[in-house]
Amino acid sequence: MTTSMTLPLWYDLHVHLRQGENMSVYIQAQLDMGCAGVLAMPNTKPPVGKVLESDPVDGYWSIENYMGQIMDAGGTAFKSVITPLYLTKDTSAEMIKNGAASGMLKACKYYPPHGTTNADHGSPLAGFIDNGVFQAMSDAGVVLCIHGEEHGTTGVDYFDADHNAEKNFYLNEMPALRAAFPDLKIVCEHITTKEAVSFVKSSSDNIAATVTPQHLLYTVGHLVQGLKYHLYCLPLVKFDADRDAIRNAVTDPDNTKFFAGTDSAPHTTKATPCGCAAGCFTGGVAPQLYAQAFEEAGLDLNDTHAQKSFEKFLCLNGPQFYGLDIPEETFTLMRVESDVETLQCGSESVTPLPLGLGMNTIAWSIKRS
Ligand code: DOR
Ligand code: ZN
Repeated sequence: MTTSMTLPLWYDLHVHLRQGENMSVYIQAQLDMGCAGVLAMPNTKPPVGKVLESDPVDGYWSIENYMGQIMDAGGTAFKSVITPLYLTKDTSAEMIKNGAASGMLKACKYYPPHGTTNADHGSPLAGFIDNGVFQAMSDAGVVLCIHGEEHGTTGVDYFDADHNAEKNFYLNEMPALRAAFPDLKIVCEHITTKEAVSFVKSSSDNIAATVTPQHLLYTVGHLVQGLKYHLYCLPLVKFDADRDAIRNAVTDPDNTKFFAGTDSAPHTTKATPCGCAAGCFTGGVAPQLYAQAFEEAGLDLNDTHAQKSFEKFLCLNGPQFYGLDIPEETFTLMRVESDVETLQCGSESVTPLPLGLGMNTIAWSIKRS
């Protein structure tokens, strides 16, 4: 008998929809894989660095404006869209207070300055502790989405067998932040290390984490063997012990804190003459890849208990954390092999995983009910 799971539509609580003409293609890819809604990251060009059009700062899009662009590009088909405010040197406690009161501001995103794609507007963490921004967020119940990597590191501090930018961040910076703002709701985004898993597990219920398909499936060996640049994303895929810790966290039947956020990040040009754009694209294929990862972690998705764990991770924990309704509409995942193709965006294209690793099929397929 073919394994199949009928699940509520799910929320992708970390995705990049970018800007311009390709947005509608990226939105359609989300809808095609059963997304009821998205949390659309603000590292656009220009960044989404203010809440309302009337906020008195220049050089940024507002959440109000960006949300309009998403809706015009087909986002009206989503039940819910959240766009976090990009925390910059211009973010003030006043902006947070007014934004939350307006109903437009639900979350803010911290980027380590220059730490990843379009993170040039990021500003050091300590600034938001000193200027009252985190306190204002905590008071108003605004979620902090955190890209947890220490910035400004190089060489062995950036990535080594014993150190990496994410491990450093969760050991050196997060405990103090948690202690200073015990009521602040935090999502540790796209976690990749056993240290991040331990941090989230040892925290109260207002600290949770998103996990991507690539960090559940792959390790650094997959990236470096043949320099598979479609797997190059930040934070980098890590080691087997890290992947084990993340797999154990998401498959735990009692998991309430770890949920789906693909970090699907379309790049029409990945490799350049002097480096590589960071970001893996999983539009259209994420639930299939998550199912593959659960089975590689040792769960049998024929089993109803395993299916329940999968449903918690993909469909229930995330919306519960963000206070979103679980949709009544469903979609179905079947263990039937399907093809994976590039996504055409006009004259450009984006290569999804696992095609970017040379595999043009995937063990699962999806049917919208
Ligand atoms: O790999 C990544 N790509 N990590 C990020 O944090 C940003 C993302 C992007 O926007 O491409
Ligand atoms: Zn991201």
